[in-house]
Amino acid sequence: MAALGDTIQQTHASLEAAGIPDARLEAELLLTSVLNVPRHRIYAFQEQELTPEEANLLEGLLERRLRREPLAYILGHKEMYGVDLTVGPGVMIPRPETELLVERCLFLGMMRMHEGEMVIAEAGTGSGGISINLAIHLPAARVYATELSEEALKIAETNIRMHNVQDRVTLLRGDLLVPVTEPVDLIVANLPYIPADRIATLQPEVQREPREALDGGPDGLDVIRRLLRQSLHKLKRTGVMVLEIDPEQAQPLTEDALALFPGAAISIEQDLASLDRVFVMELGGATA
Ligand SMILES: C[S@@+](CC[C@H](N)C(=O)[O-])C[C@H]1O[C@@H](n2cnc3c(N)ncnc32)[C@H](O)[C@@H]1O
Repeated sequence: MAALGDTIQQTHASLEAAGIPDARLEAELLLTSVLNVPRHRIYAFQEQELTPEEANLLEGLLERRLRREPLAYILGHKEMYGVDLTVGPGVMIPRPETELLVERCLFLGMMRMHEGEMVIAEAGTGSGGISINLAIHLPAARVYATELSEEALKIAETNIRMHNVQDRVTLLRGDLLVPVTEPVDLIVANLPYIPADRIATLQPEVQREPREALDGGPDGLDVIRRLLRQSLHKLKRTGVMVLEIDPEQAQPLTEDALALFPGAAISIEQDLASLDRVFVMELGGATA
């Protein structure tokens, strides 16, 4: 049986040979999962050997990863904005870009804190990360989180309970804003926005994620446009909408939004790669 230090090296080498980026980090995370210890601890036991059970477990996890199953599905969890979320096949893995939506909503929520309770709707909640973060950080917020996928609903429910926000996050099964029965101050969504013909060109790991979490139709905007139309009847006159988008969608989405909400103030924010990523529409009483 090899010592832990050698096992890390071998795991790293196998992942690297398969062309997996961040192979060293992934090797460490697989070992961390097998040994059930924090990552820094694996370096304290370099000379220790894995038990046969641990070695078998590692082999199984490594095989799954070499078949390009996403690491987060193998580990069973992923962090979003400091909140640990259960994830698994059937739900979209939270992405770092989506933390920008959380940040923007927290800023808006804090600016409006003096106005008392804030009602928020998140359409397409997936594993629940956006809604859970908003409930944790905005004590005056009540959040409706909608979702169509049964598997995602189950995972979101687990996460909402795990973070003990079930009193302020109401999970609703249904299409976008249809199940939301009261006007809201803030609509936030990271909906499917990838143009359908681009999906086959994405990394194999991404293609293991649910199609209904990715596919936004011919130009990627089908679902977002429906959300905009539904918002006409659900967003308060002083409301705000915050959406994650593909950089190519900033211009057409702005035009569509202004056609429906003339006078709205629209801004586009960039992600860490300087790509247009967050669409923000503030009504400020300027709409129908
Ligand atoms: C891109 S994923 C994002 C999930 C989560 N908000 C996140 O950021 O990790 C989009 C989610 O929207 C859900 N979805 C797609 N169409 C929907 C619809 N018409 N109504 C409600 N949810 C929908 C998908 O099932 C998926 O969970």
